[in-house]
Amino acid sequence: MDLFEYQARELFARHGVPVLDAHVVDDPAEVRAAAERLGGQVVVKAQVKTGGRGKAGGVKLASDPADAEDKARAILGMDIKGHTVGKVMLTPTADIQDEYYVSFLLDRAERTFLAMASAEGGMDIEEVAATRPQALARVPVDATEGVTEEKARQIAEAAGLPEETVPVLTALWEVFTAEDALLVEVNPLIRTTDGRVLALDGKVSLDTNARFRHPAHEAYETPGEGDPLEAAARAKGLNYVKLDGTVGVIGNGAGLVMSTLDVVAHHGGAPANFLDIGGGASAQVMADGLGVILSDPDVTSVLVNVFGGITACDAVADGIVQALGLVELTKPLVVRLDGNNAERGRAVLDEAAASLGPLVQRLDTMDGAAARAAEPARS
Ligand SMILES: Nc1ncnc2c1ncn2[C@@H]1O[C@H](COP(=O)(O)OP(=O)(O)OP(=O)(O)O)[C@@H](O)[C@H]1O
Ligand SMILES: [Mg+2]
Repeated sequence: MDLFEYQARELFARHGVPVLDAHVVDDPAEVRAAAERLGGQVVVKAQVKTGGRGKAGGVKLASDPADAEDKARAILGMDIKGHTVGKVMLTPTADIQDEYYVSFLLDRAERTFLAMASAEGGMDIEEVAATRPQALARVPVDATEGVTEEKARQIAEAAGLPEETVPVLTALWEVFTAEDALLVEVNPLIRTTDGRVLALDGKVSLDTNARFRHPAHEAYETPGEGDPLEAAARAKGLNYVKLDGTVGVIGNGAGLVMSTLDVVAHHGGAPANFLDIGGGASAQVMADGLGVILSDPDVTSVLVNVFGGITACDAVADGIVQALGLVELTKPLVVRLDGNNAERGRAVLDEAAASLGPLVQRLDTMDGAAARAAEPARS
């Protein structure tokens, strides 16, 4: 979940990262008073969840409160890369001597955390990274050791940042870990002419898998943002992740669902989602899961792959039969049941076959069922 700059700034302040004062407004009529409180000369910044605001004209320096209001009127409502500006943040102007770039992120390919830093921060960092990658230091961060003072010094030295940035680097790492972030980026981190180091901009992306540990993060969720099916599934307590393919997948247990995705892909299908219905696959849970998956317009077939452990397959089969009484089936549904009470489960489906109709097919092996479910994608 990406945050707005003003929300990132809040988290920075909470963890001791030095930031400027700020006011967030959505009504231009409030700008003048806010600018006055901040000392008159302010920077007006569009709050949108996309980069390149400055270059798009969404960051403007105002000479006095009246000018700030003019600038805010121009920026509010502006479209930046498809994002409409609904709020602006006002901050006092800083006397910038140097602009640096700093970020912490998860490096999935290397299976580690990564610090990136450059002494050439500012609006052209993308170009620096592309044309002179040596100017962007990349320092892996061990998950168990984290960014100690020593590590922060190493990062600063690799990037050519001054000594004063070291405590800011450790504070930013604190934001990254304490808030369960996937990305913390500051561009620019500045040194002022009087030697202070400040985070002038902030981009934070939170790990929504850690949502349960951070009730306070709920305030950052914007209704209507993100995938509507993911939101609908979450509201029903389902563990659902939308993917790009066409084969809807329902399984019990994350491991089984993951390997089901692999087997579907192996047979030439592309999974449309990850949906783990967990241990107690009741009729209601099955109906909720099917409801979510069948309402995804990208789905052309559905594969239910259940290995009965604690859950008995006949209970799951009952659930499927009842669920299909609750939702209308318009796409092929392939069911594979194995494990605890598999025979009884299969019998339940066979007995109901006439009422379930030809769209419901039962196969005994995971491989066969995945191949069948992938058929519409291959044809
Ligand atoms: N308070 C400030 N005082 C002086 N200059 C500022 C201030 N805030 C921003 N700037 C200048 O404006 C530039 C762009 O600001 P900022 O980094 O916030 O936006 P951006 O980088 O264009 O946005 P994004 O990070 O979305 O691409 C900064 O590099 C800095 O030079
Ligand atoms: Mg920036």
